[in-house]
Amino acid sequence: MSAEPKLAAVIGWPVHHSVSPVMHSFWLKQHGLKGAYVALPIAPENFARCVEDLPLMGFAGANVTVPHKEAAFALARVLDEDAKATGAVNTLVFEDGGIRGLNTDVRGFASSLSETFGSEVVRSGPATVLGAGGAARAIVHALIRAGAPEIRLVNRTKSRADTLASQAQDGRVKVLPWNEWAAVSRDTSLLVNTTSLGMKGKPSLELSLDSLAREAIVADIVYNPLETELLANAKRRGHRTMDGLGMLMHQAVPAFAAWFAVTPRVTPALRAELERCLSG
Ligand code: ATR
Repeated sequence: MSAEPKLAAVIGWPVHHSVSPVMHSFWLKQHGLKGAYVALPIAPENFARCVEDLPLMGFAGANVTVPHKEAAFALARVLDEDAKATGAVNTLVFEDGGIRGLNTDVRGFASSLSETFGSEVVRSGPATVLGAGGAARAIVHALIRAGAPEIRLVNRTKSRADTLASQAQDGRVKVLPWNEWAAVSRDTSLLVNTTSLGMKGKPSLELSLDSLAREAIVADIVYNPLETELLANAKRRGHRTMDGLGMLMHQAVPAFAAWFAVTPRVTPALRAELERCLSG
């Protein structure tokens, strides 16, 4: 490893809400590495130009968040399998030959789920995914990979779900209209909210869980607030739940490893640090 301090960043527009700098700084300190991780607000029209200059300034790579994940996909010279499958890149690695683009959201969700409930949980029954945006693409791919027997996509705009399902090229992915949720909830064993509803500053997700079996797991990829109304409601009804912080922490592991050549761990101490930051 070079003795020169390495830099990494999260690029978004806006990006001030990101807790990634806290997370990566925690790991840099924990591993005694020289370097820094900063948040860079970059407008869409400047994205490609700015990213191309980052290696010249000592950046080893960057995370990319809303609204840049498709632009990052287009910019990368080499893509990993999950980036190809989802059409989105959330991690850029600057290499001598050009930019490598990864999608670590897929692994992030899969690791969070298996760490929380075991690796077999996805196989136990149909999963229902709410939403059909970029986050949903990563979740659907993770569920396919983990062996979900059926994946139902429910989205406000059905045509977006149709597009996602056809891109997934897997017969297990089915699209259902939002008003059929009550019917499909009966035998859903895993419900995942990938919409932005429930996020701080957004409307809450109005979803009845009345027909959901008590054994079903309810997951939300929103992590601010940590306990969304969906999760609070699910807990009250006795469901096992998973918040979005696990996915956030696990998607960061391969990124940090690619830039700083050390594989960090997701620990209770890291979670506590992020919870402090989110509650502050
Ligand atoms: P991301 O990349 O974070 O997934 P996105 O591509 O904008 O962001 O997708 C946001 C998701 O939240 C979409 O599924 C969106 O539904 P539409 O495809 O119908 O837009 C969903 N969403 C956002 N606001 C919503 C609302 N008020 N009601 C229902 N769904 C909503």
